[in-house]
Amino acid sequence: MTDTGEKTAPSSLVAGARAIVASPDTAEKVRLAYAVSRAWFQRDLALGAPSRDGHMPDRPGRPDKPELRAPRDMPKRSLTGKAGRLALIHSLAHIELNAVDLTWDLIGRFAAVRLPRSYYDDWVRVGLEEAKHFAMLQDRLSQLGAAYGDLPAHDGLWQAAQDTGHDLAARLAIIPLVLEARGLDITPPMIDKAREIGDEDTAKCLEIIYRDEKNHVAFGAKWFRFLCDRQGIRPEPAFHDFVRRHFRGPLKPPFNDRARSEAGLTPGFYKPLAPLVG
Ligand SMILES: [Fe+2]
Ligand SMILES: [Fe+2]
Repeated sequence: MTDTGEKTAPSSLVAGARAIVASPDTAEKVRLAYAVSRAWFQRDLALGAPSRDGHMPDRPGRPDKPELRAPRDMPKRSLTGKAGRLALIHSLAHIELNAVDLTWDLIGRFAAVRLPRSYYDDWVRVGLEEAKHFAMLQDRLSQLGAAYGDLPAHDGLWQAAQDTGHDLAARLAIIPLVLEARGLDITPPMIDKAREIGDEDTAKCLEIIYRDEKNHVAFGAKWFRFLCDRQGIRPEPAFHDFVRRHFRGPLKPPFNDRARSEAGLTPGFYKPLAPLVG
């Protein structure tokens, strides 16, 4: 699963990112994510350009299974018992697979924007970690006698990418600073729940994911501020504006204020977008 073989050497980071997103084969996506990251960190890859290396696909390549459904057509499942646990891990694996595609899309799609090398170092690391998270949850499913693809999965996540494909700051506002930050709110209770039912292996996977995701939000906050600074605009009002335009509905409390603040996402960003309580 985590083979870093050199079967296909991409010609640039953009070409590699494009190949990862376009591949319909999940094992190939993971293999390529490892190979491209390694080549990038060994300084063996040039950045490349979308005009030369191909533009990012409108939709990522995906296997035949799982069947993708509109969120409203997803079966309602109780999250207790073995079936419930499998459904939860399956849905997390699906989220991580989307995170693989979303991160490599971010790397490839905006490569014409002038950005420092450290920007790519950060997001290539994220792209590698998302592939690791997906592979880890896939392994966990197989330990439980199941596989990614056994259950239907919802098709709402890619929408956020399509809506913000024109603007890097908008993309950073929605993906790391809304969706991944939400992961920081909901993962600690999931870890507690897994421990409560004696599922230590799942708890350990979730702890790794939680630790890595704090960095993903931190990279999002850092580069969002960088772009705002360069445009001479204030980050908080700009964030409110992007979220109101590209994200449906308010941001849901309770928030993990501590983890969010540690990642540089201070309450002035998200509190004004939460529903008024009391
Ligand atoms: Fe992840
Ligand atoms: Fe992430």
